Amino acid sequence: MKKQTLHSIQNLKKAGEPIAVLTAYDSSFAKLVSELGVEIILVGDSLGMVIQGHDSTVPVTMKDMIYHTQCVSNSNKGAWLIADLPYMSYSTEKNLLKNAAKLMQAGANMVKVEGGEWLCSGIEKLTQRGVPVCAHLGLTPQSVDALGGFKVQGREEESAKQIMQDALAVEKAGANLLVLECVPSTLAEEITQQLKIPTIGIGAGNQTDGQVLVLQDMLGLNNDFKPKFVKNFFECENVNSVSQAITAYVSEVKNRSFPSDEHGFK
Ligand code: KIV
Repeated sequence: MKKQTLHSIQNLKKAGEPIAVLTAYDSSFAKLVSELGVEIILVGDSLGMVIQGHDSTVPVTMKDMIYHTQCVSNSNKGAWLIADLPYMSYSTEKNLLKNAAKLMQAGANMVKVEGGEWLCSGIEKLTQRGVPVCAHLGLTPQSVDALGGFKVQGREEESAKQIMQDALAVEKAGANLLVLECVPSTLAEEITQQLKIPTIGIGAGNQTDGQVLVLQDMLGLNNDFKPKFVKNFFECENVNSVSQAITAYVSEVKNRSFPSDEHGFK
């Protein structure tokens, strides 16, 4: 695969070609997914749950994120690499800039932050300093306790309006990409149409510009965790290996057969 850039990712939106994104936290999987057509790797703070065994992303530290970003970066074969800024690592602008620099120096191409309007001034400062930013709206797992659990967001008119307002604000502040997690498919579609930057959905229907899943989830590695938006690609016809499951994911994202209605929210 050719090396992905901010421009090549933006061009996928312009061309109407869905963007395939997967998480990876280590070198072996980084190599595999980047060789199998995944355009973006996310070193998500979901590693707190799938690698470390916590029940949320809250315990994840900068040290963890730097370590896993380096592991992924060492063997990434050209995918655009996003790394999550973990819980409370960007609660002040000073910390935001300092910690974003650490992730970029560990090999990230872009940092991801959870939040909307309150983050705009920080997003502006990062992009002015040459740090590409991915914003994350809808279900923002770092706020799980404030949200009362891992729940679909934006079902009520007021909260849908707020998510749309946040999306427009982060784009205006300079964000280059937006993750929409667990929001009604119609809201995600509307936001995708309104924004020039690509949107990447997870539990957000198949009309976003791209899709992301946690690698361990789409490989069906955890029998106790089967949310509606996850599909186990190991269960697809003719899939007998990890590589084949990842290839099936990329192909279903590209032809928009994943996610289907059964994986989305109303
Ligand atoms: O941490 C993560 O893996 C994420 C995705 C679920 C979008 O933020």
